[in-house]
Formats: sequence, structure tokens, C-alpha cells
Amino acid sequence: MILAGRVAVNGEVVRALGTKADPARDVITVDGERVGGAQQRRVIMLHKPRGVVTTVHDPEGRETVRGLLAGVDERVYPVGRLDVQTTGLLLLTNDGALAARLGHPRWAIDRVYRAKVDGRFDEATLTRLRRGVRLPDGKVRPSSARVVRQLPTKTWLELAVHEGRRHIVRRLFEALGHPVDKLARVALGPLHLGGLAPGAWRDLTPQELERLEAAVGLRPAPRPRAAAAVARGPRGRGTPPRTPPPRPGGPRPRGRHGGRSASPAGRETAAGPGPRPRRP
Ligand code: URA
Repeated sequence: MILAGRVAVNGEVVRALGTKADPARDVITVDGERVGGAQQRRVIMLHKPRGVVTTVHDPEGRETVRGLLAGVDERVYPVGRLDVQTTGLLLLTNDGALAARLGHPRWAIDRVYRAKVDGRFDEATLTRLRRGVRLPDGKVRPSSARVVRQLPTKTWLELAVHEGRRHIVRRLFEALGHPVDKLARVALGPLHLGGLAPGAWRDLTPQELERLEAAVGLRPAPRPRAAAAVARGPRGRGTPPRTPPPRPGGPRPRGRHGGRSASPAGRETAAGPGPRPRRP
């Protein structure tokens, strides 16, 4: 079957006998039909809190993102990583094909961050940021960048980058002379963190999955919302978020789903300084 080109792993036809694949993580198909995938597919959005490590197991015994997913039995893995001190939107999945595409530069998936940096950001520095900054491992050029709020000695910015190099946003601002004080990821491709509380998680809705898969070429682009809604008829709004487990040593989450709810108007949170001003 392999020599005949009938077997594919994560969408790529394999022809070498002895090719290794993990049925728990990889999507294995024969003649286009999935085999060996006994687990239910899970694609989970987590609001990673500060101080939690983006891994499934930490040899140093620190709290991990996997440990926040109480009740998830499937072997899900983080898609990319957020630094220990970074908060925000993290996907975890057991769908290897989807994870591979989300991390692949070909699909240029935007990661949108809110950053609070030291100092006031002037026009010249914003222009430098937008034009791109040379780092030791290559230039990084945000696909968008804007100042959200200027404080007396700090600046809140929102920027999008479509790559996942290590510490890329922190290094970018460091190179501009404005070290990062707080960093939160608020969107990933078509997905938005919204009001998901720190430490809480939920499965993606079918609509989110559809848009995500379309963004990485795993399915055609979804129909416009109005037409799709008419065709589908009334339906629920997806799975509710899950309560984050109690965090040893950390503040106990509060709010409707056990975590902090969406930031009150004008109040500063790790994900930003409150409502976004309109674009000029
Ligand atoms: N860039 C960083 O510097 N840190 C992150 O956690 C994510 C992007």
C-alpha cells in the first residue's frame, strides 16, 4: 500500500517503508480514509495564565498548560508556544495535520499580541517597527502594528506577526529600546480570545474550526455568514468554557466561568488596557 502511494501522513503521501507515525498525533489515511485515529478529535482554546509552562510535562514540576485541561482525556499538545510570562490564546489539539499547518510559514497565520512596553513610543519608532527590525536570527516585520494607548511612562501596542520564533515579540521590542512589561496573545488567525477567563478553556465551535481549517487550506473558505446562517437554521453557540482548576499558590480565579471575566471597560488587564479606540 505504501509503495503504491495509497498511505498519507498529515496529508503528505509517504513512499518510504518504515516511515514512523504516531496514530495519536498524526492523521494517517489510506486511500483518503482516516485509519488508527481512535481518539475523538479535540481542538481546544485555552487562556494561558502567567507563570504556566507551555508543555505537557515539566521536568522541574512547574504548572503546565496540560494540567489546566481537567476532564480532557485525549492526548492533546500545544500548537506553538507562549513564554512562561506571556498570557493569552493557546491552542491544544490532537490533530497533527492541523497543528503542522498552523506552524508552517506557508500559511502565514497571524498571531496578534497586546504588549505593554517601557517608555513612550514616538512616530519614528512606530515607523521602524512597521518597516521591520533586524534580529540576530533574521528580520521580523509585523503584518500590522499600532499604538493602543500611550501612558506617561509606558505604551500599549497591538501587533501581528505571522511567525513563531522564540521570544520574537520580546526581542523585537528589546531591539527598539522598549522592553516588554506585559505580553498577551489575543488572536490566532481567525480565532479571538474574547472573554475567555485566564485558566479557562473550551473546544472550538464548528464555525471556528471551519474558519481555522480554511485559513490553512484544509477546506474551502466558508460561505459568508448570512448565507450560511440561512442554510443552517437556528442553532446553539458552541461549547461553554470550562472552569479552570484551582491553581496552587496562585490567586483563585473568579467570575462566571470560574476565571476572571472579560475586562471591565477602561480597566487594564494582561490582555490590554480595555476597549480599543477606533482606527483613525
Ligand atoms: N513572542 C514572545 O516574545 N513571547 C511569546 O510568548 C510569544 C511571542
